[in-house]
Amino acid sequence: MIIVTGASGQLGRAIVEQLLLRIPASQLGVVVRDPKKIVALTEKGVRVRRGDFDDPESLAEAFAGASQVLVISVDTTGEKAVRLHAQAIEAARNAGAQRVLYTSHMGARLDSSFPPMPDHAATEALLHGCGLAFTSLHNGFYAANALRLMERGLQTGELYLPEDGKVSWTTHADLAEAAATVLASESRFDGITPPLTASEAFDFNSLAAIATEITGRQIKRITVTDERWRENLVSHGMPAAQADLLVGLFKAARRGDFATINPALESLLGRRPQTMRDVLVATLKP
Ligand SMILES: NC(=O)c1ccc[n+]([C@@H]2O[C@H](COP(=O)([O-])OP(=O)(O)OC[C@H]3O[C@@H](n4cnc5c(N)ncnc54)[C@H](OP(=O)(O)O)[C@@H]3O)[C@@H](O)[C@H]2O)c1
Repeated sequence: MIIVTGASGQLGRAIVEQLLLRIPASQLGVVVRDPKKIVALTEKGVRVRRGDFDDPESLAEAFAGASQVLVISVDTTGEKAVRLHAQAIEAARNAGAQRVLYTSHMGARLDSSFPPMPDHAATEALLHGCGLAFTSLHNGFYAANALRLMERGLQTGELYLPEDGKVSWTTHADLAEAAATVLASESRFDGITPPLTASEAFDFNSLAAIATEITGRQIKRITVTDERWRENLVSHGMPAAQADLLVGLFKAARRGDFATINPALESLLGRRPQTMRDVLVATLKP
C-alpha cells in the first residue's frame, strides 16, 4: 500500500488525485491529523487514518501495511520540523515500508539563509542514515509563493521587493503529478532527485514586465533594502520570524539557490511543465 501524508494540504491533496488516476483506491492510504478534512476520500475507497508526526503511536497504525510512505514536509521550521520528519521516517521504517519518499526543495542546503532549506538538508542526512531506500524530491519553488509575493504589487501597480535573483517557479499541480508518477512506478529515482523545476527562471523585474504586458496596466518593480521591506512587513502585522524568513528567501535567491532549471520534471511529466509566465497568464488574463 502507498501511504501519503499531508493529504489535507495543497500538495498532498493533488498527489492523491493524481495517484487515483494511476492505482486502485484500495492500494492507497492517506494520513491526516484531522480525517474530517478529507471525508470525500473515504467515500472513494481510500484508507484514511489519523496520524500526527508529533505522535509516533498514531503513526504505527496510520502507516501499517505500507510499501512506500510519502512524508510531506511539515509547514514549520527549525529543530521541530526536523524532529517531526525524523519521527515520520522512523515510523515508516517500523511499519516495514520498503521506501520512504520526502518532499524536499531544490534549494536544500545546510548553509542557506532561507530557514526551511537547512531543515530539508538535515532531513536528507537522516534519510541517508535511515537504512531504507529513499527518494528525496527536490521540488522547485512553488509558483503560488511568487503570486503571494506579487499580490499587493499587482493591486497597487507598485511591486516593492528586495533585490532578488532568478527563480524557476514551479506549480503545485506539476510537482504533484511528478510525485504520483514516481510513487506509482516504484520510483525511477533513488536518493536525491535532480531539481524538479519548470523550464524557465524569472526575476521579479521580468515578472513585473510580464504582468504589465498581460494586464495592460503598468506594474512597476521597485527595489527596496531588506531592512526597509522587513520593517514594512512587521508594521503591517507580520510576525518578525515570518518577515525574517522571507528576507532569507531573497538572500538565497540572490545567491542563485533557486535559479537552476532542469529537464527532469519535463521528462517525468512527458510534457512541458508550466512556467511562471503561464501561471501569470492563467491568473491575470482578463
Ligand atoms: N517547494 C516549495 O517551494 C515549498 C514552499 C512552501 C512550503 N513547502 C513545503 O511543502 C509542504 C507541502 O506544501 P503544501 O502547499 O501542501 O502545504 P500545506 O497546504 O500547508 O500542507 C501542509 C501539510 O502538512 C501537514 N502537517 C503539518 N504538520 C503535521 C504533523 N505534525 N503531522 C502530520 N502532518 C502535518 C498539514 O496537515 P494539517 O492539515 O493537519 O495542518 C498539511 O496537510 C509544506 O508543508 C512545506 O514543508 C514547499
